[in-house]
Amino acid sequence: MDLNVVILAAGKGTRMKSRLPKVLQPLAKKSLLSHVLDTSFRLDASRVIVVYGHGGEQVRDVVASQFPGKPIEWVEQREQLGTGHAVKQAIPQLQEGSRTLVLYGDVPLISDATLNRFLNTVNLGQAGVLTVKLDNPKGYGRIIRDHSGAIREIVEEKDAGDEIRKIQEVNTGIMLADTLDLLAWLPQIGNDNAQGEYYLTDLVKIANDHDVPVLGCLVDNPIEVEGVNDKRQLARLERMYQRHLADELMTAGATLIDPDRIDIRGSLQVGQDCCIDINCVFEGQVTLGNNVEIGPNCVIINSTIADNAVVKANSILENATVGIDCEVGPFARLRPGTVLREQAKVGNFVETKNIVLGKDSKANHLTYLGDAQIGEKVNIGAGTITCNYDGVNKHKTVIGDGAFIGSNSSLVAPVEIGAGATIGAGSTITKPAKENALTVARGKQVTLEGWQRPTKKQ
Ligand code: UD1
Ligand code: CA
Repeated sequence: MDLNVVILAAGKGTRMKSRLPKVLQPLAKKSLLSHVLDTSFRLDASRVIVVYGHGGEQVRDVVASQFPGKPIEWVEQREQLGTGHAVKQAIPQLQEGSRTLVLYGDVPLISDATLNRFLNTVNLGQAGVLTVKLDNPKGYGRIIRDHSGAIREIVEEKDAGDEIRKIQEVNTGIMLADTLDLLAWLPQIGNDNAQGEYYLTDLVKIANDHDVPVLGCLVDNPIEVEGVNDKRQLARLERMYQRHLADELMTAGATLIDPDRIDIRGSLQVGQDCCIDINCVFEGQVTLGNNVEIGPNCVIINSTIADNAVVKANSILENATVGIDCEVGPFARLRPGTVLREQAKVGNFVETKNIVLGKDSKANHLTYLGDAQIGEKVNIGAGTITCNYDGVNKHKTVIGDGAFIGSNSSLVAPVEIGAGATIGAGSTITKPAKENALTVARGKQVTLEGWQRPTKKQ
């Protein structure tokens, strides 16, 4: 049977004290709502409906741009009158011959594995509630089960007496029902309760009144159903999530010098025997081959690093491809479009952008290489600069195999250095440099005989 997913995302999130709507707050650099949407699309749902309200336009625009081509249906809830009222807004979008799963935009880490287990536990003609047992259930709706284990009722904390408050099994908010039942029950929800809101949780009682059994399905890992209401909870969940990702990496065989000091904001694939030192940040899609070593304090964004490569401390890589046996850093900056072929070396205070550095070539110190095609076994001396920008346009530098660029040279692009050429230190090269020859382009050294240092005036 088809599945409709309704994601509740209209709440104000007042406690965030932020101009950014709550569901757009980032967890591992991805908005809370995007986490839930990613999971929803993995469920093979026929419809994904987001109920939005506070900050509506912004939420729609930001999220739609992150899911190009995905069929997200947006429903506005103008006034936030409760979770039951929110689901009601989605009624026109729901397909009759389907089941409806309700998720929360501020419960980002629910997994598709858990949701699939939930979907398989609850049969047609039944309703379901995803629950969790908490040591401290304060603030949550409590689950009331009967002797057979079926759920009779959910009582919100604010409506609960002392006995009910002792119950540790709570409502995660995630619910499942046949859409036809839901359509019949939603209009029956009232707002006669401590908060004067239309509670979605009232559906449990209504289902029981219609002799539809309500099954509880317990979540194993509470992090999956942890909600976010303020910045402290957001930070706490970020840490829990990062620790979870670190554990996954170690399970895959990576060595983490300190699993509490790594941040993954995207996906990180590792080969065998990789070692990652402390305080590294990985963003977007990063792939490490076998036996890769990453030093402390590196930031690596959308990059691929091949076998046996070493990235030393404090290096920053973005959209870079690092070949087998390469060495990068310490303090190197590889900007977008950098390709290092095998055994290439980029040392400290070297910045690269849109270049290919050929096999076994080296730029060991203090250099800017931009828009350049550099061959094999080239040595780039300290202080070399490819002057790629004339103030309006970018130009290319081409350096042939085996060239040697003396220290502190400026290569004014467009310019070509022949294979095997040697450039004298301190040269400013504006014309092609001949292959296998020495080219020097600088003032000649002179000694002025008879010159004397000035003396102090009286
Ligand atoms: C709700 C549940 C409670 C459960 C808890 C789990 C109800 C009545 N209570 O309480 O049993 O233990 O979640 O976290 O359902 N929202 C709307 N429109 C509204 C109100 C809320 O879209 O009018 C959205 C919010 O953006 C949020 C979600 O629904 O994503 C939950 O709302 P919230 O007010 O946080 O509910 P709780 O009081 O936490
Ligand atoms: Ca909440």
